[in-house]
Amino acid sequence: NDADQHVAYFPGQSDLAPVLMLHGTGGDEQDLFSLANFLLPQHPTLGIRGRITEGAGANRYFIRHADGSFDLDNISSESDWLWDSVSTLTAEHQLDAQQLIVLGFSNGANIAAYSLLHKQPPFKTAVLLHPMLIEPQSTLPDLTGVNLFATFGDLDPIVTETNFDELITELKTAGADVTVFKNHQSHHPSQAELAAAKDWLSTK
Ligand code: MLT
Repeated sequence: NDADQHVAYFPGQSDLAPVLMLHGTGGDEQDLFSLANFLLPQHPTLGIRGRITEGAGANRYFIRHADGSFDLDNISSESDWLWDSVSTLTAEHQLDAQQLIVLGFSNGANIAAYSLLHKQPPFKTAVLLHPMLIEPQSTLPDLTGVNLFATFGDLDPIVTETNFDELITELKTAGADVTVFKNHQSHHPSQAELAAAKDWLSTK
């Protein structure tokens, strides 16, 4: 349906909630599968590659300028593309998009968090590994019923604690239930946060 679409699909057990993997900069549609498989084994799992290319070929979900700032028109249109793709793909695989559990890392967590604040994505549950606030939202949506697990590392060279805390405040003010896991680490998925995420998911 879309020449830009690179998709991975792992069928799993159809009675379990489907997982949507959103990779970090330089990742692809399946590089988070081992994490997804650890957190939510046997769940049907979908991955969609971001269609922006940075530098020598790093995949992303939206444009980042050379100075590190973000293209806000681009993240808006790429979010629309992503959720349109999700809608088409979930229908194709007979998955319930409302039941999706998003697993996002870094750039992928960022487009998921952005979408909650600025778009109306179908999902209500997400594990956001090292997200940041890309664009504040002055008119908050109603995120009642949204459950999020979000992680931060105090050695992160990309995400400041102030920015992370601002993101969490916006999400909570909008009504989302957010569990925060702060750890002494940098910008990568760690055993500690994955174990905590798995515990959190087991209560959902
Ligand atoms: C972003 O560009 O979304 C953030 O800087 C995180 C990253 O992907 O490096």
